[in-house]
Amino acid sequence: MTSTGGGSGGASGDIGPLDLLSGLATTRAIRRYTDEPIPDDDLAAIVWHASRAPSGSNRQPFRFLVLRDGPRAVAAKALLGRSFRAGWAAKQRADGYTDATAEDPTSPKARAAATMQHYVDHLERVPVVVLVCLERYRDASPYEGASVYPACQNLLLAARALGWGGALTMWHLAVEAELRELLEIPDGVVLSACITLGRPAGHHGPVRRRPIGDLVFDDVWASPATWAVDPPGTRHTHWRR
Ligand SMILES: Cc1cc2nc3c(=O)[nH]c(=O)nc-3n(C[C@H](O)[C@H](O)[C@H](O)COP(=O)(O)O)c2cc1C
Repeated sequence: MTSTGGGSGGASGDIGPLDLLSGLATTRAIRRYTDEPIPDDDLAAIVWHASRAPSGSNRQPFRFLVLRDGPRAVAAKALLGRSFRAGWAAKQRADGYTDATAEDPTSPKARAAATMQHYVDHLERVPVVVLVCLERYRDASPYEGASVYPACQNLLLAARALGWGGALTMWHLAVEAELRELLEIPDGVVLSACITLGRPAGHHGPVRRRPIGDLVFDDVWASPATWAVDPPGTRHTHWRR
């Protein structure tokens, strides 16, 4: 555990606000990993901090099914590899990545496509895959994910704090039935996200987003929030969908 981990209860506020904010501004999706395994202590700290996330009525319906190198995990990663490659192939066509690569292989979009291809081609070698699940305690609702996704982001931020990186994906869905059978996941448990984790082969952020003025309104829909300004040096996304 780290200094912010279970030992200190993590409640003493010993991570400064600037550290926290710079973590928020620089935790991007990491899709290239070295083969370095994540030690138990770090994994323990990552899931512990993930589980500090808020949830409706503090019911904590999130569950973390951690896949490393056990026989079931290896089989699950093989299923996921197939599914990720199919997911990326479909997205590549639908979102114009194939055309972007053909037009200019050095463009940001073409480089993103190359990273994505590498990601899905090496999925079986990702050190840790976490299936983040939701154990239902009431009828299905379109909003139930709201009690799981904060934990996903906490997990990614905790990984970042410890020098690891990850990506939240939904590309497990095409093999959900097979995963359920293989991993003995009962009915009533939702597979909310599939997070890959490992030592980044590249670097973290700063992340790029749309200009903050595009995203924040003041008082009434579409009214500019003139006070909401990007800090100097903020980098923006290259393309808008
Ligand atoms: C709900 C959700 C679904 C996502 N699904 C996928 C996915 O299936 N595959 C993937 O590679 N990344 C996926 N991502 C990661 C996003 O692509 C990534 O967060 C976004 O492009 C911003 O990238 P950045 O954080 O590196 O700036 C998903 C993220 C979220 C929040």
